Amino acid sequence: TLPVLVDCDTGIDDAIALSYLAAHPQAEVAGIVSTGGNVEVTAVHRNNLVLAELLGVDAPIARGADRPLVQEPMFADDTHGPGGLGHAVLPEPTRPGDPRTGAQLWVDLARARPGELVGLVLGPHTNLALALEIEPELPHLLRRLHFMGGAINHRGNTGPTSEWNIAVDPEAAQRVFAAFTAAEQRPVMGSLEATETVRFTQEALDRFEELAAVTGHPVAAILGEALRFYFEFHQADGFGWMAHVHDPLVTTHAITGDFASTRPLAVDVELAGTLTRGQTVGDELGRWGRTPNLEVLTAVRPEEFVEHLLETLRTGLGR
Ligand code: BDR
Ligand code: CA
Repeated sequence: TLPVLVDCDTGIDDAIALSYLAAHPQAEVAGIVSTGGNVEVTAVHRNNLVLAELLGVDAPIARGADRPLVQEPMFADDTHGPGGLGHAVLPEPTRPGDPRTGAQLWVDLARARPGELVGLVLGPHTNLALALEIEPELPHLLRRLHFMGGAINHRGNTGPTSEWNIAVDPEAAQRVFAAFTAAEQRPVMGSLEATETVRFTQEALDRFEELAAVTGHPVAAILGEALRFYFEFHQADGFGWMAHVHDPLVTTHAITGDFASTRPLAVDVELAGTLTRGQTVGDELGRWGRTPNLEVLTAVRPEEFVEHLLETLRTGLGR
């Protein structure tokens, strides 16, 4: 099995990704770091504690930083609902979180299993950037890093050119990209032009509701209620009755290597731009003369991905 440390701002699509990891027989959730992003870190942490408990994930869950490295925090409760999981009403968690900081959990888990741990960032990079200050060797200690974030030659979903996870903490993303140029394997970036090829339709929503009815699993019901909110948000935002689910695509690719290809690209984060701060700039034509630092997801097979995701949840949560 593949041990995975998930750093996320749960978040509707983060919740689906966590459920997939819990359901997949080849994945082991080795730890969870809660990061502020979609909603503030206390709410994210509570969501992670409850979901892990209901999913039977017995791993340390650490509360990460409550603010970005430099800029003021921002939240997206219009997108994910006031508590982060749309219309879902969650029980209280009964297990406490891990007392360590999010950054320390990154470091401890990576040191405990050198070369084994897959890092999966589904929110802003704040905690990983802080972890690099404690342990600069982190890029060598991890097996590899996957993250959802950025947009390459594609409009943003936060600023006109910036994607949420990078826009929330651009300095953190920039530091992580720079530090991981030393890694044995290039980090895999799932940016918007890849993740927005995934469109959940009413049929997918029906299948989540069916999943709840068939398995009786409380998380299936939570995901259905959360997704209904996500559809309503996308409709209000002018996309029609559908939802883009970003984090699960990156997660399924991290576990299976399937549903998309990757291409090497030199990518950096715009920090100074007055209009474009938080943009991920990809050097398609090699103008910088830099060695590519990331593998960017491309050629996504969205239908196969959705089928795999739903089937994994059906068999895994139904166990
Ligand atoms: C990313 O932003 C968050 O709202 C989602 O959970 C995803 O990680 C998409 O831009
Ligand atoms: Ca997320």
